[in-house]
Amino acid sequence: MPIRFGSAPSTVAQLSHRGAEVLRRRPYDLGVAKAAAVQYSCSECGAATARWLGRCPSCGSFGTLLEEARPTGRVGLAPAEARALLRLAEVEAADAERLPTGVAELDRVLGGGLVPSSLVLVSGDPGIGKSTLLLMALQTLSKERRVALVTGEESAAQVKLRAERLGGAEDVLVLAETNLDLVCETLARERPEVCVIDSVQTLYAPELGSAPGSVAQVREAAGRLLRLAKEEGIATFLVGHVTKDGAVAGPRVLEHLVDCVLQFEGDRYRSHRVLRAAKNRFGSTNELGVFEMTSKGLLGVADPSEVFGRGEPDQPGSVVACALEGTRPLLLEIQALVAPSDLAMPRRVGTGVDPKRLAMIVAVLGRHAGVPLGQADVFVNVAGGVRIDEPGADLGIALAIASAARRAAVRGGLACFGEVGLTGRLRPASQAERRLGECAKLGLLEALAPEGTADRGKLRVTSAATLRQAVALALDAVGSQEG
Ligand code: TYD
Ligand code: MG
Repeated sequence: MPIRFGSAPSTVAQLSHRGAEVLRRRPYDLGVAKAAAVQYSCSECGAATARWLGRCPSCGSFGTLLEEARPTGRVGLAPAEARALLRLAEVEAADAERLPTGVAELDRVLGGGLVPSSLVLVSGDPGIGKSTLLLMALQTLSKERRVALVTGEESAAQVKLRAERLGGAEDVLVLAETNLDLVCETLARERPEVCVIDSVQTLYAPELGSAPGSVAQVREAAGRLLRLAKEEGIATFLVGHVTKDGAVAGPRVLEHLVDCVLQFEGDRYRSHRVLRAAKNRFGSTNELGVFEMTSKGLLGVADPSEVFGRGEPDQPGSVVACALEGTRPLLLEIQALVAPSDLAMPRRVGTGVDPKRLAMIVAVLGRHAGVPLGQADVFVNVAGGVRIDEPGADLGIALAIASAARRAAVRGGLACFGEVGLTGRLRPASQAERRLGECAKLGLLEALAPEGTADRGKLRVTSAATLRQAVALALDAVGSQEG
């Protein structure tokens, strides 16, 4: 059938390929708006395409593109409405006073308390303790300020039960609602100083038509709450679940919108939880908060080294390393297991360590430190579900592996830190003073560190120039054997 363009050929020429297809099928229906009414958004990264694709062109995920309504275009403004530009000198910047949440570890990760009018995303696996943490914060905040909890996941009665378990939170205002329009209207009228939305994935804007938790809904909800936070001065925590499958939009689509992204991590089957900032417009991103989940809620762990830094003396494969998390040195037990392997590509499995770093350390051990691992599976684990991304922990990982491979325990009372270079030399780690202080505080006797690190008080500092030297110094020479 010949294509009839009607009276608007220029419009057709502007249509996308898909739009033209629609016209071809229905020659009388020149609904331009219809052709452009849907788009496909990736539930992983939020990228939008005009056509459905099996694989997201932006992030490469498969099967994550979902149909949604295309946002309507902007209306043009008259030139007179344009805004004036401001010189930075004229900008008023009140040094924002921070609101202490009463949860010391949360305040630390936020950079010293909650900033008024900020939007903070708290993400983490279901059941990790996000609702508990934020309810505890609201509990303290409610003593001096108006605070509200919008709950879409639990009923108000369930929240009350939890609050009673945590020791009461009578003054927290609760709204059990999932309709975004109602939530925004209520917040705009009530204007609490702090508000928690638990969770952003349960909110839905009826006019969008897609299911709650879809990319379009989550983005719309976050966008409107952001405007509300800035315009009405409501500091807002958004709770977001992390899921791997595309059904519920991951909080990743929100990361660029919000001021802070806090990640709540840890093993839900063990009691320790780690809170870290992945993004923070008002502070450092490498602060770490450590909690323990108890029957009375989350308890801050003021001294995590005490919990994580107890090695197993006399056990081959266990080493205490001193890593630095933000401003805070942290002693961690690193465990390794080296087992003979028949695999053509032996396994290198690390929990809490960067896989690339682990592969590099295994290679350096084999090439420069006389610990060949080509025929062995290597497993490394960091105690307490903590993740270390800091190069200063390299030496700890290397020594744990060497100790396991040689089946020789590391000398008791010894902690180590230092970066391992590709040539097998050790590089000084940053803030050695701080790390040594932490080792001394925990009553360790000796620190093994790269050359150029000075003694400190009772703590003896043994320095090594290369990884080979460090391995020889750390392992009890007696009884050591090649594994
Ligand atoms: P929750 O805050 O509901 O997790 P999320 O909001 O991230 O899904 O916490 C879930 C777990 O915490 C749950 O398994 C029960 C446990 N928990 C305690 O152990 N002690 C407590 O006092 C509370 C409130 C929860
Ligand atoms: Mg919850």
